[in-house]
Amino acid sequence: MKMNETTTIVAAHCQQVDPERELIHVDCASHIYPDGSIGIHDMCFYVQKNEIVALCGPNGSGKSTLIEHLNGLLMPSQGKITVNGNVISGGDRTDLWKEVGVVFQQSDDQLFAPTVLDDVMFGLLNLGMDRDEAKAKAIMALGEVGAVDLIEKLPNYLSGGQKRLVSIAGILAMRPLIIVLDEPTSDLDPVNCDRIEQLISDLKTRFGMSVVIATHDLDLAARIADRICLVRDGSVFAEGTPAEIFYNTVLIREAGLKIPLVINLYLGYCEEMGIEPKLRPIKGSELIALLKRP
Ligand SMILES: Nc1ncnc2c1ncn2[C@@H]1O[C@H](COP(=O)(O)OP(=O)(O)OP(=O)(O)O)[C@@H](O)[C@H]1O
Ligand SMILES: [Mg+2]
Repeated sequence: MKMNETTTIVAAHCQQVDPERELIHVDCASHIYPDGSIGIHDMCFYVQKNEIVALCGPNGSGKSTLIEHLNGLLMPSQGKITVNGNVISGGDRTDLWKEVGVVFQQSDDQLFAPTVLDDVMFGLLNLGMDRDEAKAKAIMALGEVGAVDLIEKLPNYLSGGQKRLVSIAGILAMRPLIIVLDEPTSDLDPVNCDRIEQLISDLKTRFGMSVVIATHDLDLAARIADRICLVRDGSVFAEGTPAEIFYNTVLIREAGLKIPLVINLYLGYCEEMGIEPKLRPIKGSELIALLKRP
C-alpha cells in the first residue's frame, strides 16, 4: 500500500505477498463477458492464510465477477490465477470446489436438491463421505447457521433469507480451505446477520480458515475484516486495514461509499470537541471505551 499526493491509498500493483501465507493470487486478471461487458479489468487481488478480506464497492464494480473466478466458474480472458500454489486459470482443475467454497449472491443459483438436507449433503457425498457421516455433518452445518428446523423443507419454498442460510450451510459443511461469501447478510434479519457475523469470525479464529466477503454493509466489513479491498471499474483500487481505509475520508468519498457508523460518530465527536481524530476506533466497544476515558 502506498500514499499518493491526494492522500488516496492505492493498492500496490500485484504486490509480493509472503509465499508461505498466500492462498489465492489473482494477477492482473481481466474478464470480458460474451456481450462485450467488462466484468473485471487488470484485477490484482490476494488472500492469505487465516484472514478475513472484505471486497467493498458500488454495484457493477466487479466483485461477483472476481468471486466467480476464485472457484473456476469463470476463467480470465487475460491474467493468471493461483490457488494454494496451483495455477487454475488454465481451466484444468475440476475439483477446485474442495478448496474454495463459494456462496453465490443469488441463492437460487446454488440450491437445487429436492430437500434442504439433500442440498447440504450433496457436496459431502461428492467428497466421498458415506451417507450417515454426510447427514451428521449436514445437520451440524445447518445448526451452525441456525437453520436446522428447515431440514425437511423444499428449497424452492424457502424465503430469501432462509435460502441464504441454507446456501451458507452447504458450503460450510465441506470445510473448504477458503470460504467466499457474496453478500452474506443481504436478505437476513438482524438476529441472523449477527449469527452469520459471528460465524465468519469463528471460521477464522476457531477453524483457522480464510474468508472473503463481498458486501455493501461497510459497518460489518469494518467490524470483522482484517483487510478491506475497495473495488471500482473492475479492479481493486485501494486496500488496507479497516482503520487505514475507513478513516481516509477522501478515499471513501472518491469510492462513492459511506463512512461506517462508529467512525462517523467518532469523527463528528472529534470535530465537536475540537480534537484530532488520532485514535481511530473501529468497533462500537472501542469507541465506548475511548469516550469513557477521563
Ligand atoms: N453474465 C453477464 N453478462 C454480461 N455482463 C455481465 C454479466 N455479469 C456481470 N456483468 C457485468 O459485469 C460488471 C461487473 O458486474 P458484477 O456482477 O461483478 O458487479 P458487482 O460488484 O458484484 O455488483 P453488485 O454490487 O451489484 O452485486 C457489470 O458491468 C455487469 O453489468
Ligand atoms: Mg455482486
